[in-house]
Amino acid sequence: MVRASLATIAMCVAASVASMAEPARLARYQGRRGVAPDAQRARGAAALGWPFLFVSVIAGAADQAHDTLRDKLAAGDYSRRGADTCLGCHDEEEPFPTLDVFVTVHGHPQVDGSPFEMDPTAELPAGLQCEACHGPIGDHGRQILADGVAREPILNFGERGNAEASLQNDLCLQCHRTYERTRWEGSAHELAGMACADCHRIHAETDAVRSMSGQNETCWGCHRSVAADALKRSAHPLRDGQLVCRDCHDPHGTDNDKLNVRATGNETCFKCHAELRGPHLWEHPPVVEDCTICHVPHGSNQPALLVRRPPQLCQACHSSVGHRSFAQGPDQLPPRPTSEFLLAKACLNCHAEVHGSNHPSGNLFRR
Ligand code: HEC
Ligand code: HEC
Ligand code: HEC
Ligand code: HEC
Ligand code: HEC
Ligand code: HEC
Ligand code: HEC
Ligand code: HEC
Ligand code: HEC
Ligand code: HEC
Repeated sequence: MVRASLATIAMCVAASVASMAEPARLARYQGRRGVAPDAQRARGAAALGWPFLFVSVIAGAADQAHDTLRDKLAAGDYSRRGADTCLGCHDEEEPFPTLDVFVTVHGHPQVDGSPFEMDPTAELPAGLQCEACHGPIGDHGRQILADGVAREPILNFGERGNAEASLQNDLCLQCHRTYERTRWEGSAHELAGMACADCHRIHAETDAVRSMSGQNETCWGCHRSVAADALKRSAHPLRDGQLVCRDCHDPHGTDNDKLNVRATGNETCFKCHAELRGPHLWEHPPVVEDCTICHVPHGSNQPALLVRRPPQLCQACHSSVGHRSFAQGPDQLPPRPTSEFLLAKACLNCHAEVHGSNHPSGNLFRR
């Protein structure tokens, strides 16, 4: 079964490979990157060959694998048989099964611009197959290695990545430097040295981070405190995937604080809670300023995601001068008549419209 599907794929792949590394096409591709492939080999200086990739790289002895990979990318020594070459060694019996890439858009020959694109006139790296992402094979595919000689590395990604994140990401961004990623550079995730592959699964039928059911788990694999908040008694419905991080954050970067999807925190909330947008005849200043003065965005142990519960919440700003707006002393605790300042919704028993009021006499948010 495994063998059969391998053969099918190999057949389908073989048709396109003939033209894959056609020299003129390859030269155009390398040319776009700054250097003609022939000149590049002679120079051997990767830093000149791939200016986009290597500008900020300082070579060091410890970085030998990285250097090899950079040199390989510059040299552009692609295989002649594309995926067929790789699949001879990397099949489903390997510890890392690779074939599922063929059930994704990346492995689909009919998807314009994909690594497995069949059209021989398409601009590379489309059509370079596995090497569109992993870079040129060079000597990695050597059948026989002399004793004690290690296999030449080839670019790997994510958890077991063997190059710095910016180098990995550049391979992806060759094809994905589109509108959605214009703010990737300088985003919190880019600055933290994250790779695209830290979130995205490429050799998998489903890429969990892009699904409603798998996204939150992927994100809070790192953001543990958000996971903890989501489990609290009052929380946005993140736990069951009814709401996902992407509703409020763009992980690829935004112009806004905290990767929020809208310009301010409040605008982000109004995406869904539009009824609280105002303007109100009687505004409550903290509400206009920032919802997170009173609410924790992910979840809290107070009702309605509050940072504290009334009356303490309100008393953080409002003194009791001129109004008995303080929690009462022990003489009003049960069995004595309990204070309306403590009971149930406390201050909200009377000041119910705490988000602002449009009633002509709503100045105290009581209606
Ligand atoms: C769209 C980019 C892309 C394409 C095309 C692609 N890969 Fe990968 N490959 C990755 C990423 C990213 C990883 C890291 C693991 C992951 O995220 O799934 C990876 C991991 C691997 C690994 C695992 C190495 C290890 O043990 O850690 C192998 C082997 C591999 N790919 C081989 C292939 C082969 C063979 C092909 C062609 C049939 C191919 N890849 C096509 C992106 C790609
Ligand atoms: C002759 C067999 C062979 C061929 C052909 C081959 N590989 Fe590998 N590959 C290996 C072996 C063995 C390893 C494990 C490396 C090690 O243990 O040193 C490996 C490791 C990898 C890794 C992990 C990173 C690394 O360098 O260790 C990736 C990714 C990978 N191969 C992708 C590919 C791709 C893509 C192709 C085709 C362009 C390919 N391989 C062709 C045998 C092969
Ligand atoms: C040769 C070009 C090429 C390379 C290299 C490439 N991709 Fe893609 N990718 C595409 C195309 C084409 C699509 C389908 C259209 C689209 O969504 O833009 C796609 C789609 C995707 C999608 C959405 C998948 C879907 O089902 O809609 C993700 C996520 C993605 N790529 C991530 C990556 C990552 C991560 C890398 C690097 C490891 C990478 N890509 C490398 C061309 C490429
Ligand atoms: C922090 C996690 C994370 C990182 C890192 C990340 N992505 Fe994504 N990516 C996502 C999520 C979540 C979605 C789903 C977005 C949506 O639903 O609109 C997505 C969607 C995509 C898509 C498909 C839809 C689109 O926006 O075009 C592509 C392509 C893609 N990512 C490419 C990349 C590339 C390339 C990188 C690296 C430069 C990258 N991603 C880094 C989380 C991430
Ligand atoms: C309902 C909207 C919303 C959803 C859904 C949401 N967030 Fe947030 N998140 C926010 C807002 C608003 C802030 C800014 C809080 C501030 O400014 O103090 C924030 C802040 C953050 C921060 C930075 C501050 C901190 O708390 O550490 C991280 C990290 C974060 N969110 C991750 C996530 C993750 C991961 C998910 C998905 C599991 C998620 N968020 C879902 C609205 C949301
Ligand atoms: C591999 C770990 C990792 C994963 C997975 C991850 N993040 Fe992050 N995230 C980070 C790091 C590191 C930072 C930067 C340091 C910090 O602010 O905590 C960060 C920062 C953030 C911030 C705060 C930005 C700021 O300005 O403070 C938000 C929001 C965020 N991530 C959301 C997400 C979302 C949404 C996802 C899933 C789509 C996600 N993260 C997946 C590691 C990760
Ligand atoms: C993507 C849509 C969406 C966004 C954006 C959003 N919320 Fe929500 N919010 C919800 C949903 C869904 C519920 C749950 C409603 C329910 O359980 O009936 C909810 C419930 C709430 C609740 C009430 C919980 C309760 O126990 O009654 C509060 C408070 C709240 N959100 C505040 C905020 C704040 C503050 C922001 C901005 C940081 C925000 N929301 C952004 C969708 C959203
Ligand atoms: C001064 C503190 C404060 C600020 C600021 C604030 N809220 Fe609230 N919010 C509350 C209190 C208190 C409740 C509980 C109301 C109740 O129990 O009836 C609440 C309840 C909610 C609810 C639950 C349903 C409802 O309408 O009663 C939502 C949704 C909500 N707030 C959204 C927001 C949004 C969005 C913002 C920012 C525009 C915001 N809040 C700013 C104090 C505040
Ligand atoms: C972050 C500080 C802050 C918090 C918390 C806060 N308020 Fe206010 N509140 C204000 C400010 C500032 C004003 C405007 C005062 C003014 O105009 O003189 C105001 C005005 C009011 C007014 C109208 C008073 C007047 O003189 O017009 C009432 C009533 C009120 N708040 C009730 C509450 C209640 C009830 C809560 C708790 C749910 C609360 N506030 C939480 C800052 C806060
Ligand atoms: C039993 C109803 C009731 C409760 C409970 C209540 N208030 Fe009031 N509040 C009023 C009335 C009536 C006024 C206007 C008359 C007045 O000035 O005494 C008022 C006025 C105010 C004002 C306007 C300025 C001032 O001091 O006159 C603020 C601020 C205020 N309340 C805050 C609070 C806070 C904070 C709480 C909770 C600790 C609270 N209130 C609980 C009924 C209530």
